[in-house]
Amino acid sequence: MIVDIINKKRLGKELSFKELNFFFNGYLDGKIKDYQMSSLLMAICIMGMTDEEIYALTKIFVDSGDILDLSFLPGNKVDKHSTGGVGDKTTLAVAPIVAALDIPIIKMSGRGLGFTGGTIDKLESIPGYNTSLTDQQIIHQAKDIGIVLTGQTATLVPMDKEIYALRDVTGTVSSVPLIAVSTMSKKIASGANKIVMDIKVGGGALLHTRKDAHKLSELMKKIGKFYNREVETVISDMNVPLGHNIGNSLEVLEAIDLLKGKIKTGNFYSLCIELASEIISMAKGVSKWDGADMAREAILDGSAYKKFEELVKAQGGDLSKIEISKKTKQIKAKKSGILEKIDAYKLAEISVGLGAGRVSKEDKINPKVGIVLNKEVGSMIKKGSVLCTVYYENVKDFDPSLVLDAFSIG
Ligand code: URA
Repeated sequence: MIVDIINKKRLGKELSFKELNFFFNGYLDGKIKDYQMSSLLMAICIMGMTDEEIYALTKIFVDSGDILDLSFLPGNKVDKHSTGGVGDKTTLAVAPIVAALDIPIIKMSGRGLGFTGGTIDKLESIPGYNTSLTDQQIIHQAKDIGIVLTGQTATLVPMDKEIYALRDVTGTVSSVPLIAVSTMSKKIASGANKIVMDIKVGGGALLHTRKDAHKLSELMKKIGKFYNREVETVISDMNVPLGHNIGNSLEVLEAIDLLKGKIKTGNFYSLCIELASEIISMAKGVSKWDGADMAREAILDGSAYKKFEELVKAQGGDLSKIEISKKTKQIKAKKSGILEKIDAYKLAEISVGLGAGRVSKEDKINPKVGIVLNKEVGSMIKKGSVLCTVYYENVKDFDPSLVLDAFSIG
């Protein structure tokens, strides 16, 4: 039976709900082994899945845990999710912006694994910040201040925890149907009725082509419709890092700068406004243009930053204690010209080496390290000018010439 199911998918045939349920729940129960599940995942990766299979697998994932009931909050409940990128701290800015506009946002985020960062690791760089709220604490805080940013509870789609960890080490992360099932099952179980999905595409993302990003967008909307949730998608570039800072404390500080109105241009700012405008438009029934104006206003009048402070205080964090490493190394241009490319993937790998990310699940993050970009793509560069600054703990953790390689000057 187990091998028959693997072979059926290998030949590109459709698996029934019964077969998928048997296989995936069998894996969760320990009856199906890692090597058998890996084999099925690879067959899915290569042969794809039909819409019916995707709906079935999403249901199996959602039903593996609890669904958070947010009906105690009046009106629309919103959520956002990113498929993962480099320097992606948008949740830290977007969530307080929309909450400042009285749109409740209860977001359960993950940790970073591999080259993509995780919101929970960024939040934990704020000393004292509690990312392990219980369901009761989540409900209490949501009623109290309308914003919660916490880690996924143990009962939120436990199937995804197991399968994602296996996908991560078996080269099956980039499968469009599997990303759709993994991300949408978590959003459905988190209880929001309006969901914005940020699909990253480029060298520093799981998906490398716009065609795949559009395919994923279509699937996410179909799954949303199936579950009666409104889903909007934004396809955003991830060839260049988002914003200037990569690394946990550094990214929190950059999000704070945006919320304080100190950042008003660049890819990080424009993506935050775009995502916030989508959420505001869905939640309040206004146009995206009006949503964007409302988001900018929430920054300018200080209410978004005030909401962020409220959030951090409610979850026990102390913003005055955020630390960045005192050891820094400036990386300077070896020639003059135009900065044509900054390779997000290479910088992500370097920042993992510095300790800002994990290679395996057990690795401990160093919140103080990372990279700050001093120049943007398109800038005129003079030989000797600083391209970026590396914040490190141990000089052996990085090779300056590899950092320089991430910058293409033409
Ligand atoms: N993020 C997720 O949560 N799941 C995926 O499969 C990919 C990105």
